[in-house]
Amino acid sequence: MAGQKSTNIKWHHGKITKEDRVKLLNQKGVTIWLTGLSGSGKSTIAVELEHALIENRHQAYILDGDNIRHGLNKNLGFSPEDRTENIRRIGEVAKLFTEAGIITITAFISPYREDRDAVRRLLNDGEFIEVYVKCPLDVCEERDTKGLYKKARAGEVKDFTGISAPYEEPLNPELTIDSSKLTVEESTRAVLNYLEEKGCVKF
Ligand code: ADX
Repeated sequence: MAGQKSTNIKWHHGKITKEDRVKLLNQKGVTIWLTGLSGSGKSTIAVELEHALIENRHQAYILDGDNIRHGLNKNLGFSPEDRTENIRRIGEVAKLFTEAGIITITAFISPYREDRDAVRRLLNDGEFIEVYVKCPLDVCEERDTKGLYKKARAGEVKDFTGISAPYEEPLNPELTIDSSKLTVEESTRAVLNYLEEKGCVKF
C-alpha cells in the first residue's frame, strides 16, 4: 500500500530552517509517541499533556487514534495490514507536524514494534520519543471505558488488541509510564520532565 507510485516529482526546499522555527516558537519540534493497550490511558495523558504545554505557552497538538479514524484513516480497520497503514500515515503526519516545530502528541495503540520503529526511522535522532503507557491487561479490562473488552470477550468485536490480537511491548522506549500506579498528573509530569531535560521546552 505504501509503495511509490508517482513519478516525475521533485523535492522543493523552503528558506526556513529548523533553527528559525526553534527561535520563533521557543521549543523544539518532537513527536511524543504514546503506545499501549486500549484503556491504558494514552488519550487521557495526551489531553493533560497538551493542556499543560499550551498553558505554558508551548505549541502542542494531539493526534488521537479514535479521532483520526473518523477522518484521514476512516477507510482502515483493525487487520494487521490496516493497523500498519494507520501507523504509517500517522507517522508521516507526525513528521510534518514535528518539522513545523510543534510538540506532536500521538495516542495510538500501535501494537506492532516494526510499525513504531518505522516511524522512529522517519524522524531525526531525538525527535521520536516513544512513551510506553504500561498497564496490565486485567486493569484495562476492568476499566473498560468504552465497553469494548466486554464485547471482545463475547466475540462481538474481532481482532481486539490484548484479547484476540497481539500487542508487542516496546523494548527500548524513551519513557515507560505505569498508569496503573501513577496518577494522570504524575504521568503527565514524567513526560514534561523528560521534555525539559532534553531541552525541547522551557518552563
Ligand atoms: S491501532 O492498533 O491501529 O494503533 P488505534 O489506536 O488507531 O489502533 O485505534 C484504537 C481504538 O479503536 C481503540 O481505543 C478502540 O476505541 C477502537 N477499536 C475498535 N475496534 C478495535 C479493535 N479490534 N482493536 C483495538 N481497538 C479497537
